[in-house]
Amino acid sequence: MAFITWTDAYSVGIEEIDNQHKGLVKLINKLFDAMSDGQANSILNGILNELTKYTQVHFATEEKYFALYDYPESAEHIEEHLQFVNEVLKFKAQFEAGNIVLSFEVFKFLRGWLVKHIQGSDKKYSQCFIANGLK
Ligand SMILES: [Fe+2]
Repeated sequence: MAFITWTDAYSVGIEEIDNQHKGLVKLINKLFDAMSDGQANSILNGILNELTKYTQVHFATEEKYFALYDYPESAEHIEEHLQFVNEVLKFKAQFEAGNIVLSFEVFKFLRGWLVKHIQGSDKKYSQCFIANGLK
């Protein structure tokens, strides 16, 4: 069974964003499976890099629309993105330095953050984005 299962409850009602969120879920699941299978650190590192890059691309997409549509809650939202990226980069650096292993705790953090962020902060921009013509 997948570590995170996508459900329609996670949809923000905008196809491009939903697809990116699905992409993040897929990458976290891929990393989780690789860890569970006992894959080498070099493999885990590669997936972790993919996840970090994809997260940044995804946040940039949301933030592009914040600017375009003058989204009023943009500052708080961007701050949440920054904190998450910092957290992941810190964790990635520790992993690369061999100081930590990919533990279940780390995965619970990733899943918890993503689900909470999508269902809380991301859903708040749906109306604004949709009113501006996104679908
Ligand atoms: Fe977001």
